[in-house]
Amino acid sequence: MMHRAEQRCRLPGWRDRIMSADEAAALIQDGMTVGMSGFTRAGEAKDVPLALARRAESDPLKINLMTGASLGNDIDKRLTETHVLARRMPFQVDATLRRAINAGEVMFIDQHLSETVELLRNKQLGKLDVAIIEASAITEDGGIVPTSSVGNSASFAILADKVIIELNLATPEAMIGLHDIYIPQMRPRRQPIPVTAPDTRIGTHYIPIAPEKIAAIVLTEGKDSPSTVQPPSADTQRIANHLIRFFEGEVEAGRLTSSLLPLQAGIGTVANAVMNGLIEGPFEDLTMYSEVLQDSTFDLLDSGKMTFASGSSITLSEACGQRVWNDLERYKERIVLRPQEMSNHPGIVRRLGIIAINTALEADIYGNVNSTHVNGTHMMNGIGGSGDFARNGQLSIFVTSSTAKRGDLSSFVPFVSHVDHNEHDVDILVSEHGLADLRGLAPRERAVEIIENCADPYYRPALRTYFEDACRRGGHTPHCLEKALSWHQAAIEHGSMRSVAL
Ligand code: COA
Repeated sequence: MMHRAEQRCRLPGWRDRIMSADEAAALIQDGMTVGMSGFTRAGEAKDVPLALARRAESDPLKINLMTGASLGNDIDKRLTETHVLARRMPFQVDATLRRAINAGEVMFIDQHLSETVELLRNKQLGKLDVAIIEASAITEDGGIVPTSSVGNSASFAILADKVIIELNLATPEAMIGLHDIYIPQMRPRRQPIPVTAPDTRIGTHYIPIAPEKIAAIVLTEGKDSPSTVQPPSADTQRIANHLIRFFEGEVEAGRLTSSLLPLQAGIGTVANAVMNGLIEGPFEDLTMYSEVLQDSTFDLLDSGKMTFASGSSITLSEACGQRVWNDLERYKERIVLRPQEMSNHPGIVRRLGIIAINTALEADIYGNVNSTHVNGTHMMNGIGGSGDFARNGQLSIFVTSSTAKRGDLSSFVPFVSHVDHNEHDVDILVSEHGLADLRGLAPRERAVEIIENCADPYYRPALRTYFEDACRRGGHTPHCLEKALSWHQAAIEHGSMRSVAL
């Protein structure tokens, strides 16, 4: 192991900083704020966080934990079970942590993913004590070469008092050169960020930090957790088909070319199905400017339909992972990983005119979208990067099945129980039944488009009745406020919205 470490670590005197995960975890004190690498279960530090959880079993402590996004290897689960987490931001997808958040035991701060390090840099989140960053190499100046994600690692390492590096010797050496690390200047002297296309490179291939801040180097060979994306179901395939037909129509109408515009796709089965559908469509020279590069990105690159993909992480299934990581050199010229404040940067998203495809839990008849809160109160995962893209993209698309829980819940309701993306940010809604094109429509027109195209036929009559009653009362955005949340009330009381449709 030390011999292989020698090849990856060029920092003079690095051997003196080698320690075990348990020794490195001991550097973290009760009450500290810790920033960890990791974004969509890719590139998280694997051993030190679990060592911290083990330590907390006999030596209780609490930390505030910031990451890029979700962590793999059950790290959030173990840190929750051992009561290590006081505060957690900006995103998570873990069932155990979700329960603790909803019980009020962990304070979760649900943030636009582009914003966390901006707030940290501006001292609005207090100071960062320790950063724990997974690396594939360390340069002679102490620069950190990240692994399968960049996320917030660069700013965490730059802003933290101390840095613990997990040098992962199982990562391919070809990762060196994969990343483009650029940190915006401090305000008020910030310059324009010169990304003008998905393949623009503007930074260094490593995170530059003062080498004296490296408090520990832990050698590891842990693997990322594979993605949990499922093959397309009949419904997700129908959603993908509606969207592909929509893109074809946009090309025919001259609003898009056959290269479309740079694509952003949220992680998950629907997004993956849509991206896969593009392989068969009449499109060419596609590009991505997204957060997560998943299996479909590499299928599109292999098919020759996509020329370049920019992201902040690579999250792959077991099979696709084998294909990509063993042959990274072949893909490296056509992909780049950036800090999440660059992959999700509102200015760049607006400049490139991104087509943003994200998932809703529910949408209302006017186009407001709830992506985070079940029945308005219970956190699912968080807003993630969806808001960064939805507000600023050229086309903001939200997809969802028309119902959830085997038809007991309608995903199209009179009024969403929580608003993540308001009606002003939503251009297109798609369910397995059809697509609502909301561009240029007033609220009363949007309601008809959404009810008749997207809602499940079982719930359509009840939505029509609600809308007609509301219109009789008048208003620009008509509502019967006393009934607006009655569908959610029914879901809470009976576990089903079916009673409102009777
Ligand atoms: N009301 C209540 N629960 C609902 C629901 C609704 N209207 N619609 C879906 N759900 C439940 C599902 O039943 C499922 O529950 P389960 O885990 O108990 O089976 C869960 O929500 C997930 O739904 P699913 O249909 O499997 O969709 P998904 O895995 O694609 O996740 C989101 C959907 C919205 C939770 C997910 O996309 C997300 O977290 N989005 C916000 C972050 C984001 O958009 N990031 C984008 C950039 S990566």
